Amino acid sequence: MKDILEQLEQRRADARLGGGQNRIDAQHAKGKLTARERIELLLDEDSFEEYDMFVTHRSTDFGMAASKPRGDGVVTGWGTVNGRVVYVFAQDFTVLGGSVSETHGAKICKIMDMAMQNGAPVIGINDSGGARIQEGVASLAAYGEVFQRNIEASGVVPQISLIMGPCAGGAVYSPAMTDFIFMVKDSSYMFVTGPDVVKTVTNEHVTAEQLGGASTHTRKSSVADGAFEDDVEAMSEVRRLIDFLPLSNREKPPVRPFYDDPSRVEESLDTLIPDNPNMPYDMKELIHKLADEGDFYELQADFAGNILTGFIRLEGQTVGVVANQPMVLAGVLDIDSARKAARFVRFCDCFEIPILTLVDVPGFLPGTTQEYNGVIKHGAKLLFAYGEATVPKVTVITRKAYGGAYVVMSSKHLRGDVNYAWPTAEIAVMGAKGATEILYRSELGDPDKIAGRVKEYEDQFANPFVAAERGFIDEVIQPRSTRKRVCRAFAALRTKRRQMPWKKHDNIPL
Ligand code: HXC
Repeated sequence: MKDILEQLEQRRADARLGGGQNRIDAQHAKGKLTARERIELLLDEDSFEEYDMFVTHRSTDFGMAASKPRGDGVVTGWGTVNGRVVYVFAQDFTVLGGSVSETHGAKICKIMDMAMQNGAPVIGINDSGGARIQEGVASLAAYGEVFQRNIEASGVVPQISLIMGPCAGGAVYSPAMTDFIFMVKDSSYMFVTGPDVVKTVTNEHVTAEQLGGASTHTRKSSVADGAFEDDVEAMSEVRRLIDFLPLSNREKPPVRPFYDDPSRVEESLDTLIPDNPNMPYDMKELIHKLADEGDFYELQADFAGNILTGFIRLEGQTVGVVANQPMVLAGVLDIDSARKAARFVRFCDCFEIPILTLVDVPGFLPGTTQEYNGVIKHGAKLLFAYGEATVPKVTVITRKAYGGAYVVMSSKHLRGDVNYAWPTAEIAVMGAKGATEILYRSELGDPDKIAGRVKEYEDQFANPFVAAERGFIDEVIQPRSTRKRVCRAFAALRTKRRQMPWKKHDNIPL
């Protein structure tokens, strides 16, 4: 009996060694942790329950029968993050380069099925050479099965991807369909075709880092939602993110203890808006001052900085924030910012996370680049996302809310539940100068007359009261009391019930 027990431990120790000490050392030498080390950092201490540790591949071609490493290049199971269940898979690059075989794929599918059934997030740690070349189409089929599950799980359980090594070819499409992608600087890359193929086909010379490194995907393509310095930071930040999220669409987001007075008055907000309407100010300051303990989990921080997206808590409850940022391009809406915010709004709506929208937007960015690249369709994504979102929606207009952008940014007309404005708000079809130049074109040669017209327009429209008179703004509030007003608004909306008409699904302009 004792022998059998010892044998089990021996088998386990063998499996835990993955591809062997040399390959583990090589992984460390690249500044990367192993799959098991990553899982250990991600989950609460001693909470990991591993499945399928003894699974091996079944292929015999290319001499594969001679080596059957236990676990087949992926570590799978579940554990807890601050006591809440999550399912996890971590590809083990030390075993056949973490390549995906039929059985490797089946292990991932098994935990995705369990996550769906039990209502818990899936965290995928990607570090793989892609489809296992020796297995051919069986490996492609395995990817296909994972893809299908990514699609079915979308909107049911949160899916988070960490790219912590290579992720190339069709393999990128599994993370691409998950809710969030995070990368690690200098040790991860994602691309559909690698530098060699790019060189052959387009004659472009690029490195893997230039083509698909963390900087490329967080700044240029927006494929990734964030990049971390190293594996350790990646794991602790994902733990932080998980704390904001519900486990599934059947549950409400978690309520955490909070030590910040919901009625906290912030006198400094009364002077946040500069006297000169063309001067920028930092919208992040407002977000930090509204949030419990000033904690803001920002997503896509390095992309489309003219809009801010991320999570805060109010009275311990998760709230998604979308905010125009006057510091970048005057906070204008454009293709990138509309796409970024639309996807975020849809994530919040999938998972019953209320949305706070902070508005200071001068309109949509004009120009041929925008038009040729389809700003009409991309802008419509954000409009559509807000209009279809049935979660509680609270909006605060701090300064400009011009034209179509006013309507888009969670206005009353898109079923905003509570719409506040600061006294500094200017809600109009456009800014005073632009409006005057159109209405009084014949007077443009006379600067005094035009100045008078601008003043007249400003007096009439550069305020929140015209909108408030119509009930489009529920109340004009003191900036200093915004936290209290917003907290109370969300508290009153906790019992909100609203449904869209039945349909198979909508047809959002993709
Ligand atoms: C089988 C693989 C493998 C793969 C790597 N290995 N990728 N084995 N199938 N796809 C093995 C290597 O043979 C090697 O084994 C070990 O993993 C480590 O690989 P190295 O090349 O030594 O590591 P490194 O120098 O760090 O290079 C990593 C790499 C390179 C850049 C990922 O291995 C590589 O280019 N691999 C092939 C990538 C690829 O073309 N994959 C198919 C993509 S298409 P030994 O025993 O020597 O240590 C795809 C389609 C998905 O994935 C479609 C979904 C629908």
